[in-house]
Formats: sequence, structure tokens, C-alpha cells
Amino acid sequence: MLDLSQLSTCTRCALSEHRQRVVIGSGPEGAALMVLGEAPGRSEDEGGAPFIGRSGRLLFELIGEELGRTREQCFVTNVVKCRPPANRTPTGSEIATCRPWLDEQLRRCQPSVVLALGNTAAKSLFGFDEGIGVTHGRVVQLGGAKGVATFHPAAALRGGPSVVEVMRSDLRIVRALLEST
Ligand code: URA
Ligand code: SF4
Repeated sequence: MLDLSQLSTCTRCALSEHRQRVVIGSGPEGAALMVLGEAPGRSEDEGGAPFIGRSGRLLFELIGEELGRTREQCFVTNVVKCRPPANRTPTGSEIATCRPWLDEQLRRCQPSVVLALGNTAAKSLFGFDEGIGVTHGRVVQLGGAKGVATFHPAAALRGGPSVVEVMRSDLRIVRALLEST
């Protein structure tokens, strides 16, 4: 088991060579909802917190409107904690090397619902083989928690209103799960 106090200096994978800051996560440990992205982007690497750029603004606008929750009420983190060069997708090996940190965060937070954003988070956490266009909105069991995947907000920024509408309908599934626990 890893000691989370060591995460800010982790050098377990090569992503440590390019990062400015390890983006550990934000929010209260007992949060009912964990929000999981792919990897820090430029804003997050500079600021040291997850989803503080454009994607994050859209994400928490939707979470506010559909779930009535603020960013501060959610535990927010990413599959890998360091920014990949030029925002490339993290490799399977980087994801696997970073996984024990996420497992420890899950163990400490004990969320009732985990919302995975985009293919990287959905595939690595829920083991989906198919893409997010097919798997979004499915409810899976993840230890003691329920898991739901939706599109990454960056895809909604590119894809426009139709993607936002799908995210909203997936968030309503999350809302029902949160209300039933
Ligand atoms: N995209 C992510 O997947 N995570 C962040 O923290 C920011 C952008
Ligand atoms: Fe460590 Fe994860 Fe950063 Fe790799 S991505 S250096 S495993 S914290």
C-alpha cells in the first residue's frame, strides 16, 4: 500500500520527468461522488489542481446544474497524476504504474459513485472494451461503489451541444444513484 503523503514526489514512471506539479486531486475524503479524468493538462500542471482549465469549467457547470453539487463537494482526480508531454494519451504502462495511487484514493474516499470521464478513464477503471460512445451511461459495480462513464468535457468542447446533452443524461443517471444511496 502506498503512502499518499509521498505522491507529490513520485517518480514511479517517466511522466515525472516532464511535469511541473503532480496533480494529486482535490476535495473531501468522504465525498459521495468521485470524478475521474484522464490526466492533467497544461493549466492543471501549472496550477497543481485537477480540472481547473476550460474542460473543468464546463464539467462543473454541468455537475452544478444536473447534480446540484459544487466542485468542493466532489473528490476530483485523474487516472495519471502527471501531465503527459503535449497532452498525449497516457500509455497502458503509465496508467498501470500510477494505478496504486488511485486505488489508495478510492480506499480512503469510499465514494458511493465514481464518474469516469472519457475513454481512458472508463476503459482503465471499468475494464470496458468498447468506446465511450457505446459505454456511456452504463452502471457498473466497482467494489462498494457504482461506476458510470460519460464523455470527457474536452470532447464536449469540440463536439458541441449534442455531446453536452449526452453528458447531461448520463449525469441524471449519476443523480439517481446518489439519491438512492
Ligand atoms: N483533462 C483531464 O482529463 N483532467 C484534468 O484534470 C484536466 C483536463
Ligand atoms: Fe508517479 Fe503517477 Fe506521476 Fe507516474 S504519473 S510519476 S506513477 S504520480
